[in-house]
Amino acid sequence: MTTIGTPGPVSLDLGGRTALVTGAAGGIGRACALRLAAAGATVRAVDRDAAGLEALAADLPDGTGGSIEPRALDLTDLDAAERAAAGTDLLVNNAGLQLVRPIEEFPPEVFHQVLTVMLEAPFRLLRGALPHMYERGWGRIVNISSVHGLRASPFKSAYVAAKHGLEGLSKTAALEGAPHGVTSNCVNPGYVRTPLVERQIADQAAAHGIPGERVLADVLLADAAVKRLLEPEEVAEAVAYLCTPQASFVTGVSLTLDGGWTAH
Ligand SMILES: NC(=O)c1ccc[n+]([C@@H]2O[C@H](COP(=O)([O-])OP(=O)(O)OC[C@H]3O[C@@H](n4cnc5c(N)ncnc54)[C@H](O)[C@@H]3O)[C@@H](O)[C@H]2O)c1
Repeated sequence: MTTIGTPGPVSLDLGGRTALVTGAAGGIGRACALRLAAAGATVRAVDRDAAGLEALAADLPDGTGGSIEPRALDLTDLDAAERAAAGTDLLVNNAGLQLVRPIEEFPPEVFHQVLTVMLEAPFRLLRGALPHMYERGWGRIVNISSVHGLRASPFKSAYVAAKHGLEGLSKTAALEGAPHGVTSNCVNPGYVRTPLVERQIADQAAAHGIPGERVLADVLLADAAVKRLLEPEEVAEAVAYLCTPQASFVTGVSLTLDGGWTAH
């Protein structure tokens, strides 16, 4: 069979593109910002942690094709979030937070905050970004979901609810964006070596009534076939792939990086 007009080997050139990455001061967001800048993008790095953003910009290796523009912003300011997304070609919805607590003890104000940052802010960022993407006939939306966008775990009601909602938002954006050259996908990591997971170990120890040192093997990696944490840079490579020309037919999907967790 002859294929006509298919792109060549996987490579990513984002020269002339503007990307926005939320939660860029740490963990996965930081790795994504550096990866997209390495591909040549001008990266608007959004986080409420202004010092972390300055450190990110300072850590951009010399000779990198793209650049980092720190934008200190609390995403609970939804109007500001929408405005910040105007004029972007790529949007990585990544900022997140976690609280591990049984539903009957889960503080309602934290539930509200988690849903605001992890579901409503991505919606508002999409609203801000899509007009420019549609105008240019090209755009990439990558939503950092989680295995918890596909499966539930006890004690994570707000997080699981937000991630399941994000999956639906991502698929809707895929359907609406397709005629405009815009793809929308989720990336669904298992446990990644980031500050969010390090903080969770103490929380999980309390919730499950076990010592902290047993949490990694007995709770976090209990159902994973590959018994290690994922590295943020591995997530960033999956994000980069979804931004390549070769991935233009990949939309509305959830790319799971979970070491076999959901294979059970
Ligand atoms: N670490 C994991 O194991 C893992 C697994 C699956 C999915 N994820 C998802 O990946 C994303 C990033 O997680 P991470 O592990 O890198 O976390 P992290 O805590 O290292 O980084 C999250 C970033 O989001 C920022 N943030 C939080 N609330 C904000 C707000 N209101 N306004 C602006 N910025 C805000 C924080 O300041 C922080 O820099 C999250 O959506 C998380 O759910 C993480």
